This record gives sequence, C-alpha cells and structure tokens, in this order.
Amino acid sequence: MNISKELETALNEQIGIEFSASQSYLSMAAYFERKAFDGFAQWMHLQSSEEHQHAMKFYQYLNDRGGVARLPAIEAPRWEYGSVREVFEASLEQEHSVTENIYRLYKLAQDESDFATVSFLKWFVDEQVEEEKSVSDMIDKLKMAEGNPDSLLFLDRYAMERKSEEPA
Ligand code: FEO
Repeated sequence: MNISKELETALNEQIGIEFSASQSYLSMAAYFERKAFDGFAQWMHLQSSEEHQHAMKFYQYLNDRGGVARLPAIEAPRWEYGSVREVFEASLEQEHSVTENIYRLYKLAQDESDFATVSFLKWFVDEQVEEEKSVSDMIDKLKMAEGNPDSLLFLDRYAMERKSEEPA
C-alpha cells in the first residue's frame, strides 16, 4: 500500500527539517571551532551527522512506500552566538521543535491508520527523548560551570568523549 499524499507531503517536510537541523549543528560546530572549543565542536559534528542520517532514514522510508521525494529548500542557519550555553540552549529549542513535528507526523499516521508509518516513527519518538535529555543535561552542567573557565574547559573535554550513535 502506497503512502497517502498528505503523509508524503509531511514526510518531505520532515526530511527538510532534519537536513536543516544537520546544517544548523554544523554551523554550531563551526562557531566552537572558531572559539577553540574542540570538544564542543566534535559534539556538534556528531550531532550534525546524526541529523543527516535521520533525514536519510525518512528519505529511504518515503521511497520504500512509493512516495515521491520532493526535497524542500533549507534556510541558512544562524552562525553567531554569545556563549557556549547559548548554543546548547538553541540546540534544545531546535530539538523541542523537531519533537513537536515528529508527534504531529505520528498523529497523522495514526489518524490515517497507516500502521507501518506509526511503527517507523516510534524509533524517532524514542530518539527525541534521548536527544533532549543529553542537551538538557549539558545545559545543567554549563550552568554549574558559569564563571569558572577551568570547569568550562573540563566540559569541553567531556564533550569530546561523546560517541556516535548509528540509527537502528
Ligand atoms: Fe533528528 Fe535531533 O532530531
């Protein structure tokens, strides 16, 4: 059974959202590289790569279900920030927005009784919980390190230890 036109449109939008998130994280990585925060830069590079993989999962699923991939335009991401914490706060805001979109997609798939798409989207629902938690935890740590350059450099090294996650 091919995907409905409405879900096809929504999945294409999601491909754009994931590629846009990937670009945005790459821009955050570039900001950290300019500031010589190698660990935070590495964190954002990994995040950018994961978002690219998310986009490709949606792209592949759309093709597998007989949908037409019509990739949307992507707006240029923000490239300047005032502090490390501001970058991670922007990241959390972005993840909240992605989660809302995933929930909207999930609801649409449920309303259409498209159980294959519901099943496909479950991985993303769980992934968003993990992504929001890891960014939120980092913001908490950054708040504790406020005004203490040694602690900030320690967190930069800690961020370097983040491992890549292959999507299932
Ligand atoms: Fe693919 Fe971070 O959402």
